[in-house]
Amino acid sequence: MVEFNLPKNSKVQKGKTHPKPMGENLRTMEIYRWDPETPDNPRLDSYTVNLDDCGPMVLDALIKIKNEVDSTLTFRRSCREGICGSCAMNIDGTNTLACTKPIEDVKGPVKIYPLPHMPVVKDLVPDLSQAYAQYQSVKPWLQADSLPQGSAERLQSEEERAKLDGLWECILCFCCTTSCPSYWWNGDKYLGPAVLLQSYRFLADSRDEAAGERLDALEDPFKLYRCHTIMNCAKTCPKGLNPAQAIAETKKMLVERKG
Ligand code: SF4
Ligand code: SF4
Ligand code: FES
Repeated sequence: MVEFNLPKNSKVQKGKTHPKPMGENLRTMEIYRWDPETPDNPRLDSYTVNLDDCGPMVLDALIKIKNEVDSTLTFRRSCREGICGSCAMNIDGTNTLACTKPIEDVKGPVKIYPLPHMPVVKDLVPDLSQAYAQYQSVKPWLQADSLPQGSAERLQSEEERAKLDGLWECILCFCCTTSCPSYWWNGDKYLGPAVLLQSYRFLADSRDEAAGERLDALEDPFKLYRCHTIMNCAKTCPKGLNPAQAIAETKKMLVERKG
């Protein structure tokens, strides 16, 4: 049987255990740490938080740890209400938003890692440069050459507007893309579910006039067709969206324009 060994410097080691606070309602957080400025391997540091003295979400615990225990802990966050997408990370084995994930939903120690299969900048901060460049490549803005008729605005019917539901809510957190096996293996060429959902958001918009060019750009063995309907994306999306369906609709548009 073939045996695979991870390179030595990729193995996550046991890290520091920080002292426990006083209190009855204690919960341990095991957090991935990696500092590019040291030669050390990544490690899992252990912190204990008194839940009676902390907000209810995982992000509340991270902020408390950073403020009161270890200011070197590094993570992204902004809105604290599931809108900005910055606090996406892997919590208890699932990609989600730390600010909307209740600590009480996790049984036992809360294990926290950066989004998987992306290079790490530091600790819980993934390097999303490739994903952002792919987002830019689908031209995520309305394109129209014609002038709007009879009004300064480009109006939509209620039905046309309804076609954008399930798409406009995407906050570009990349929880879906980093849970997609096809993206793990071909992320340099496959656009991944977040970018493809965004791409379809403009394909589905009645005000956009560039559907032909948008579809031409997706006619490629990798960019779109690496989706094998594994559905991890829809399962993990913290906003309850279904990127796999947007991908299927895009494939349908490509078939229909041929027929
Ligand atoms: S359905 Fe497609 S995009 Fe979603 S996880 Fe599966 S392969 Fe990836
Ligand atoms: S589809 Fe969901 S998981 Fe994917 S980027 Fe948008 S909000 Fe995040
Ligand atoms: S901090 Fe904005 S989504 Fe979590």
